[in-house]
Amino acid sequence: MAQVVLENVYKSFPPRRGESVASQTQPSLTSQKQGDIIPRGENGNVLRRINLTVADGEFMVLVGPSGCGKSTLLRLIAGLEVMTGGNMWVGDRLINDLPPKERDIAMVFQNYALYPHMTVYDNIAFGLRRRSPGVEGVREAGEVKISNWAENLLVGMTRVLPKGLRYISDRERAVDEQVRNVAQLLQIEPLLNRLPKQLSGGQRQRVALGRAIARNPQVFLMDEPLSNLDAKLRAETRAQIVKLQRQLGVTTIYVTHDQTEAMTMGDRIAILNQGQLQQVAAPLELYNRPANRFVAEFIGSPPMNFIPVKFHAPQLITNGDFRLTLPEVWGNALQKYDGKTVILGIRPEHLILSVPANKNLPVQVELVENLGNDTYLSTKLLEPGFQKSAFPTKDVQVRVPPERFVSCGEQLWLSLTLEKLHFFDLETELAIFPK
Ligand SMILES: Nc1ncnc2c1ncn2[C@@H]1O[C@H](COP(=O)(O)OP(=O)(O)O)[C@@H](O)[C@H]1O
Ligand SMILES: [Mg+2]
Repeated sequence: MAQVVLENVYKSFPPRRGESVASQTQPSLTSQKQGDIIPRGENGNVLRRINLTVADGEFMVLVGPSGCGKSTLLRLIAGLEVMTGGNMWVGDRLINDLPPKERDIAMVFQNYALYPHMTVYDNIAFGLRRRSPGVEGVREAGEVKISNWAENLLVGMTRVLPKGLRYISDRERAVDEQVRNVAQLLQIEPLLNRLPKQLSGGQRQRVALGRAIARNPQVFLMDEPLSNLDAKLRAETRAQIVKLQRQLGVTTIYVTHDQTEAMTMGDRIAILNQGQLQQVAAPLELYNRPANRFVAEFIGSPPMNFIPVKFHAPQLITNGDFRLTLPEVWGNALQKYDGKTVILGIRPEHLILSVPANKNLPVQVELVENLGNDTYLSTKLLEPGFQKSAFPTKDVQVRVPPERFVSCGEQLWLSLTLEKLHFFDLETELAIFPK
């Protein structure tokens, strides 16, 4: 086990055909022939200034929208791509120039990448057999045993005999033990003789995990390993992976674009957007104190609502007829925005159905989603005097208790939970924290 340290990591890919270098010098969205969009940062860097320390044994979730550079970062750590700049350590080993095999890292991919012609047993055993003879126990003792030629000869000569009479090398015995341990851990013992095509998606995924675990690496890297599973299985496997990681205590970096996975699995979450880390913190810290508007919108479902308001010292915010007096802590924090527009952020779960009043927001219900345990409303602000130009106001999302019946088209007043307000700078979109 070991900590993983990334220091000032950069990655750029050479421009592809038809892509001009000039178009990469500005932060811009470069569209590609196939129609997908590549976020390109300064000098075409897909990753910029990545500084991240994953503690020994920690479960770090790396989350961000599709195309933000998550897989690229994992591939850099695994040694499957070359860094453009920066340093990487596993424990106290600088791994910048080590080939993937020597990094002591196991990676689990989204598409499992099992060998189709090998049984589950052989898929798990493959990485162990390929390695030098020292499997786990031997490696711990710090000694590498070279299997001798006589043993190889015996194995070769007895290979044609029935199973019970074959000579089994020490090494193969160790491999067998390790495969069976892992199979037991993942409850896939009955599947060991099957081929990948005879497995369900969930089973294949566990075999892929098993293959990574069997190698007993210092670090696990997992790239969206659950995204091919259906919702129920995903939730189950999610819990299983977390349990397993705690049990094994192996430092893990887990990539996902799913904020629920991020919130439920990680000791800490690193949020990436357009190749840059936005915030690294524990799940609830991200939810309660997002560092900027991107994080505030990304974490939480449905996402936070953003409404432009004008701040008037000492403690008032307004927009049209809407007038709300803020708690004192906000008056202090917003002082320098007197007379200016700031972005008010409020989560759907912090809006409460209330009565007509200037301090409440009038809305019309456009969509009702009953989930049984919760009801989500998508509503439109009904404030004619509302200044919208400064900031695009989206529909306001509201969570209401399921026992409250709401119908489409209904007009409601929403009160804002004062302890749960967020504010963001209009230009930088950085969070302003209460003082
Ligand atoms: N081999 C490559 N050559 C050029 N561009 C690449 C290559 N691999 C990834 N990219 C680009 O780098 C960006 C980040 O990709 P990726 O790391 O796969 O994102 P994510 O995993 O977050 O969806 C994307 O814009 C992608 O098109
Ligand atoms: Mg990816």
